[in-house]
Amino acid sequence: MPVADLLTTFFKAKTDQLALCDQLEEIADSLPDRVNRQKCLYAAAALAPMIRKVHQFEEELLFPKLAVLMIGEPTSAKTLERLRFEHCEDECFAEELSEALLDLGRGREDINVEATAYMLRGFFEAVRRHIAAEQEIVQRYTH
Ligand SMILES: [Fe+2]
Repeated sequence: MPVADLLTTFFKAKTDQLALCDQLEEIADSLPDRVNRQKCLYAAAALAPMIRKVHQFEEELLFPKLAVLMIGEPTSAKTLERLRFEHCEDECFAEELSEALLDLGRGREDINVEATAYMLRGFFEAVRRHIAAEQEIVQRYTH
């Protein structure tokens, strides 16, 4: 895939991921009394597949291209390795979070609301940090 197309796909994926982070933040802010159960069910269904799809694109197409563009940069292997590691962590986290969102969406009574809010915040904060780091690298090496 040409670099221009990779970049278009990358920035579109980041916009979608950030929109999902905003939705998760809205859910966290709505706890415990103003929860929109429909939004929880939607986020529960969208979360894991979207994260996996973005990661697959990055690891199979984007990172190999970045590795070439970063040749001569001593920390490049480490940087890409760290991003891959974060993908793994976020995928595990996303599965767990989907379950919690499903419980919220189904209106389960015995939910630990504080733990769920903490989990939501931990996730979208980690994803936003990851995205910022990734965008910085992509911008630096594709110009
Ligand atoms: Fe990523």
